[in-house]
Amino acid sequence: MWKRANWSGHLAFVLAASASAVGLGNIWRFPSQAASHGGGVFLLAYVIFSVFFGIPLLITEIALGRKTRRSPSRTFRRLNRKWWFVGALAMIIPVIILPYYSVIGGWVVKYFISSFFSGTAAIDFDSWRNDIMGVGVCTFAFQLLTFALVFLGIKQGIEKSNKIMMPALILLTIAIAVFVVLQPASRAGIRYYMIPDFSRLSSGGASGAAGLARTLLAAMGQMFFSLSIAMGIMITYGSYVRKDDSIPKASARIVFFDTFVALLAGLIIIPGAFAFGGAELAQKGGFQLMFVSLPKIFSSMAFGRIVEIAFFTLVLFAALTSSISIAETVTSSLCDFLLIKRRTGAIIVFLYMFLASIPSALSLKALGAFDFTADILLMPICAFLTCFFVGWVIKPDVVLDEIAESRPHARKLYTIFIRFIAPIFIAVIFVSGLLDSFGIISL
Ligand code: ALA
Repeated sequence: MWKRANWSGHLAFVLAASASAVGLGNIWRFPSQAASHGGGVFLLAYVIFSVFFGIPLLITEIALGRKTRRSPSRTFRRLNRKWWFVGALAMIIPVIILPYYSVIGGWVVKYFISSFFSGTAAIDFDSWRNDIMGVGVCTFAFQLLTFALVFLGIKQGIEKSNKIMMPALILLTIAIAVFVVLQPASRAGIRYYMIPDFSRLSSGGASGAAGLARTLLAAMGQMFFSLSIAMGIMITYGSYVRKDDSIPKASARIVFFDTFVALLAGLIIIPGAFAFGGAELAQKGGFQLMFVSLPKIFSSMAFGRIVEIAFFTLVLFAALTSSISIAETVTSSLCDFLLIKRRTGAIIVFLYMFLASIPSALSLKALGAFDFTADILLMPICAFLTCFFVGWVIKPDVVLDEIAESRPHARKLYTIFIRFIAPIFIAVIFVSGLLDSFGIISL
């Protein structure tokens, strides 16, 4: 059986958890979701969700991990044997995400290398994606890097690499965002992005109530993905947290970091796309924005090559630090489940990641289906079950005692949140958004 390590301290934990949170979710997913779900309205919903739901849900997951000192595959079972299936769900989600995440990581490797040599505007994304060798080599390189850092362990691999990558990432994000905002042509985009306009709300072709329901579902899914909640990661990272560390403080800091980078990434991409390609380009969601539009934007900007290199360095760091956390979660779950050594677990996960990434590398549809299954279907269910489990099965006191919360009003507030507010809210948004998306009801 593997020996469970601890983070070296509060800062190391906050850095690792923030590094996990800040990832492709912030830089690729957030701006494209914001652009295609009504801009400012999505932004407003996202910030509200992150603060009022993100922080308490993070506290809950980290506390469960620290209390049991187990990864998701064992945490729930340890607290109540009958509820093992929530752990199974929390374990399956990162298993689904890891392969396709590494494929996008592979694309980022390609763009990162090209930014130094020929520039990325020259890449024809669609035809390059059909070049199996090229995609295969880049994806493999990204997977190898992820594996190496997980194999080295949480202190030697994860903590050390984060110490370099995270400060670089924050500085690069701020620098590029300031540069884009200072371009006079960015103004219209900043307005679209920052000012909620409910009259223009449209999402997935729907407007009015249906548009709002879809926007809320998208913002909620984005919050889970971006904060690494409901995918077992924070339970796993929580299991390495020292007993004397403050979980609420750490959670607030993680949400702050993550939201800050997401907002800035949106500020780079959406006004950038408005400035150099007009509203139509900016509202294109998906991969188009980052891998097709942005390189064109860079090539038409002053100092575009420098911005381009800085941007893809930033994306690579963000993708890598998050992919490590997803791979670490799968590895840790496997080791707890099979009672095998950590390094053996890391090798098995690496082989799995390689083989399971093939469908997503070959087809965007497959990749989209995995993303939809994990993010829109399974994560809200996992979050709902986790709240229900804590609120009604093991009772909120388990979490409150773990975080040593003694103020009566704070205990009461958390209890109401985890028992009623969070599960009801998640269920209503999930069910209405989903029924509407599948055309079962028309809002
Ligand atoms: N939280 C990670 C991200 O945003 C998975 O990419």
